[in-house]
Amino acid sequence: MDFLSNVEPYRIKVVEPLKITTHEERQQVLKKAHYNIFKIPAEEVFVDLLTDSGTSAMSQYQWAGIMTGDESYAGCRNWFHLEEVIRDITGYPYILPTHQGRPAENILMAIHLKPGISALGNMFFDTTEAHVLNKGGLPIDLVIEEGLQTDQDHPFKGNVDIDKLEQTIKRLGREKIGIIHVTVTCNNNGGQPVSMANLRAVREVADRYGLPFYLDAARFAENAYFIQQREAGYASKSIKEIAQEMFSLADGCTMSSKKDGLVNIGGFLALKDEQKYRQAQQFLIALEGFITYGGMAGRDLEALSIGLREVLDQAYMTNRVRQVRIFGEQLLQAGVPALQPIGGHCVMLDMKRFSPHIPQEHFPAEALAAQLYLDSGTRACGLGQLAFGSEDAQTGQVHYSPLEVVRLAVPRRVYTDNHLKLVADSVIRIYEERNKLHGMQIVWAPPVLRHFTADLAPLQE
Ligand SMILES: Cc1ncc(COP(=O)(O)O)c(C=O)c1O
Repeated sequence: MDFLSNVEPYRIKVVEPLKITTHEERQQVLKKAHYNIFKIPAEEVFVDLLTDSGTSAMSQYQWAGIMTGDESYAGCRNWFHLEEVIRDITGYPYILPTHQGRPAENILMAIHLKPGISALGNMFFDTTEAHVLNKGGLPIDLVIEEGLQTDQDHPFKGNVDIDKLEQTIKRLGREKIGIIHVTVTCNNNGGQPVSMANLRAVREVADRYGLPFYLDAARFAENAYFIQQREAGYASKSIKEIAQEMFSLADGCTMSSKKDGLVNIGGFLALKDEQKYRQAQQFLIALEGFITYGGMAGRDLEALSIGLREVLDQAYMTNRVRQVRIFGEQLLQAGVPALQPIGGHCVMLDMKRFSPHIPQEHFPAEALAAQLYLDSGTRACGLGQLAFGSEDAQTGQVHYSPLEVVRLAVPRRVYTDNHLKLVADSVIRIYEERNKLHGMQIVWAPPVLRHFTADLAPLQE
């Protein structure tokens, strides 16, 4: 493939026009949105890197599949297509469709947790963490130390610290642990992969203590690609073969199909154990819908069954990871402190190094997100103190978020390298004048998940 693999392995058949706004217009939009980028209408955004979730462009085959949607309540044909594809990739016999990833997490945690019981993983995604907490459980992140260092190179920064895993089980006692749930790739630290050797080691620990081990497989194909590229012994294996091996090591998985399913909505829970499947069915019917649609339309089941095959294509994945890497490298070459190595689905900017003059309690990530929108109409997501930290109004005590980052997530098959160059130039421009960046303050915020709806204002206006 060589030089052809540097180019998108598709051409564009349908285009969605983007609105070009002026600096003054963006200033008005930002003010009206109370400086919270979640509140900006999408049509006012030029390059939307808020998330890679549910934002993929579908292929002609997926759109054609949409037309074959069978909307029968029970046993629609598209369900059987999807079931066959998921069984083929994962090897799991029991599959439950859900409308996205979080209901699958809700059901899995309901089966395995009760109050006072812990869930162990590399880094729990926020919805998974919420479901663990909702069941009275305690989520414990055990990612390797390098996974939290933004400037250290490591091929598998999503790996679980195996010593810590075993020590934690010994410290708490086997009976106090309900589940091990490992996210591939690890979203929270920038789409960093987990190696096959690490998954194998987790399996061994799980077997030693009789613990169930599941994958959060939202980006399973990107993880398999990194294994192919970076882990000895996998270079000649296909992405599908590697994915099959990854799944074979676990007892099942939760899946947000909005990422590596290449669709705009969907998810599933897949299991090896029939008893657990029967239990899960009862939750599914109450929460999502009948067991052959689980909150998805028949047409969407079909689009997913096609997307799950397309994501395993070597040419697609080579270009996908290349695009994100080239984007990140433009920033690194200009000295911008991006998390290294560049992950599978996003570039993360380390705000502690980007603008050390802004303390975390003045929300440097949101300050940059606002400035990026003003500068180039780019939307990015702040993931730091506003999302994960807190300040006690009475005592003034601050609980700091361990990471303070801005995430530039790249939707699949949506933007060209040119769009990403525009964003890179914009970040570099702001970085060169970073001393002019000033902090933000909260005008209003709800008690939980405040970053989605908080009203903010610049500190010096
Ligand atoms: C790693 C990971 N797990 C789970 C989820 C939740 O999936 P969903 O948004 O489909 O509910 C996400 C969403 O971004 C994710 O990144």
